[in-house]
Amino acid sequence: FDDEQNFFTEYYPYYLSGTGYTILLALIGVLFGIILGTIFALMKLSSIKVLRALASIYIEYVRGTPLLVQIFIVYFGTGMLGFDLSRFVAGCIALSLNSAAYVAEIIRAGINGVNKGQMEAGRSLGMNRIQAMRYVIFPQAIKNILPALGNELVTVIKESSVISVIGVSELIFQAGNVQGASFKPFLPYLIVSLIYFVLTFTLSRLLGLAERKLKSSD
Ligand code: ARG
Repeated sequence: FDDEQNFFTEYYPYYLSGTGYTILLALIGVLFGIILGTIFALMKLSSIKVLRALASIYIEYVRGTPLLVQIFIVYFGTGMLGFDLSRFVAGCIALSLNSAAYVAEIIRAGINGVNKGQMEAGRSLGMNRIQAMRYVIFPQAIKNILPALGNELVTVIKESSVISVIGVSELIFQAGNVQGASFKPFLPYLIVSLIYFVLTFTLSRLLGLAERKLKSSD
């Protein structure tokens, strides 16, 4: 038992720092994912064919390849091009680029989910396309989009674990460190899984509450 006690007092800084990096990676990934994803969604909804095609290619390619290989491509690719990015920054970029493709689909689906008659209703009130989008479609679409973006954050918290492959000291990487230092193979991963669960479970509950608020404001 003494041994186990030491295990926690001795190694908790690893978990703490790992949790910090995991949360930071996820927040940055989703933030830039939302910014880029919005751009891709708008490109996909635009009336210009080239933009639509470019957005489609990006979204399909990113969603059709593993995050793991995207991380390697960003990390080694930027290195080859002469950018000396830190592993953390490369990880953030890879995660953002990945999340952007999923966010673009979330936004596009949210907007397409609004009844087509709403655009006509706006237009018949004398609004142009942009105004109808801004004042009629978007306020309804946001109610589909926000909850899905919350789920995206939950997903990205878990997916950020893959960034451990380039040596960013998030939770999985730190579990490896504790494993190496303590010679205990199992316990570090069990602890780390519990930390992920606390993060995602708490977040899901909070999102559930927020979603109910959003619904009741109808
Ligand atoms: N694990 C899958 C992959 O490696 C899914 C990634 C999901 N990413 C996201 N931002 N929702 O491709």
